[in-house]
Amino acid sequence: MEKAITPRTKWIIFNSPSNPTGAAYSHDDIKALTDVLLRHDHVMVMSDDMYEHIVYDGFRFATPAAVEPELYDRTLTVNGASKAYAMTGWRIGYAGGPQSLIKAMAKVMSQSTSNPCSISQWAAAAALNGDHSFLATRNAAFKQRRDMVVEMLNAADGISCSKPEGAFYVYPSCEGVIGKQTPGGAAIETDEDFARELLEAEGVAVVFGAAFGLSPFFRISYAAAMDQLQDACGRIQRFCGSLR
Ligand SMILES: Cc1ncc(COP(=O)(O)O)c(C=O)c1O
Repeated sequence: MEKAITPRTKWIIFNSPSNPTGAAYSHDDIKALTDVLLRHDHVMVMSDDMYEHIVYDGFRFATPAAVEPELYDRTLTVNGASKAYAMTGWRIGYAGGPQSLIKAMAKVMSQSTSNPCSISQWAAAAALNGDHSFLATRNAAFKQRRDMVVEMLNAADGISCSKPEGAFYVYPSCEGVIGKQTPGGAAIETDEDFARELLEAEGVAVVFGAAFGLSPFFRISYAAAMDQLQDACGRIQRFCGSLR
């Protein structure tokens, strides 16, 4: 990160747990990054904490403004109701940060969308202030799906998948199938080829890694029912097994 920062750098954007990988930074990981940021006081920090509540195996969520109070005045922490409360369609996000920045954001919003509808605002207030005990139950279900998906992907020829700490994505490598061909003779030269041929052959939709800037990988969202995931992973195994 130190090497990537130049005098023209305006913002660093953190996203942990991450979309698309599900990887999450520990307190110490973040401290190492905030130590770098302390040396570059022209850089603003935005932390997208959307998956704050979706973590597994006792992982402790951390965020830059809490890890490094000295960065507080140049950190914008954003979050929303979409993931923890499964309220994607309600369109509620929120942010905490320096007063001047929040004021400017409010000005832009009030001149563009005016506001998210008041029904959504009341629903989000109920979600944020209400009982959170469902999070543990839901995370246990997500963890079960993650573990099954990771295991089934690792059993597919040419696929290797690490087990992420949070969110509801896995980001397996498909390096082992690059250079192969489908039974119909289509060459798999990139992760985009892999995603397209998988969709054509088995009707399974994944997002190819080049779309996120890191190849040869692909993203799977396991925010789906266990039997659908099992079926999809079985299809991925069959597809990978058919490549030569
Ligand atoms: C990293 C990240 N931030 C924020 C969001 C939430 O977006 P929205 O509030 O538009 O539903 C998502 C949803 O995919 C996400 O992956």
